[in-house]
Amino acid sequence: MNLPAKLAVFISGGGTNLQALIDSAKAGRLSAQIGLVVSSRNDAYGLVRAQNEGISTFVYRAQDYQTPDEGTEHLLHILEEYDIEYIALAGYLKMIPLAVIRKYKDRIVNIHPALLPRYGGKGMYGHFVHEAVLASGDRESGATVHIVDEIYDHGRILMQKKVPVNPGDTPDSLAERILAVEHQIYSEALEQLIKGNIKSWKK
Ligand code: GRF
Repeated sequence: MNLPAKLAVFISGGGTNLQALIDSAKAGRLSAQIGLVVSSRNDAYGLVRAQNEGISTFVYRAQDYQTPDEGTEHLLHILEEYDIEYIALAGYLKMIPLAVIRKYKDRIVNIHPALLPRYGGKGMYGHFVHEAVLASGDRESGATVHIVDEIYDHGRILMQKKVPVNPGDTPDSLAERILAVEHQIYSEALEQLIKGNIKSWKK
């Protein structure tokens, strides 16, 4: 695969991980060109971040199509049009169509704000994750970058970094500490994947 690799980033919200990937690519820490940002919402602030950087955007809402297949076909067509080789999910809250997962097998990654396989799966997103960690009494949490396969939060773990849970933490304070780590490890893991080192790392 030629470098820089063509990357699409999928978002649903604020896009701070998107921004971190943009910054890493600009700084030469990530051998990727972000060719497209796909959002499940037309009001996601991440779209503004993309536009500020001159990155093309596409709002993909499955409900806008007559049938699920029609939506999937359109999404695949757009990804092809932009020569996308890798996909990074960054706070994307919708299911990726199976046909996309199959076409991009081992080339779609996600970042999750906990130490998978704990605190993953359906319904485990955003503050729900951090609430569950705090309720469990665990003394550490963290961030995980993993390959996306056909099961939620299930694919091979590429990189993980632990973060302490401090006394008095709230879901917000824990989320903030983990988010800073996400911003660091997402581009590191993607860089390794793009360079063909798809082993597992623990940091
Ligand atoms: C991050 O915590 C990420 O782990 C999760 O969704 C959040 C997205 O935040 N999947 P942002 O939109 O990148 O700021």
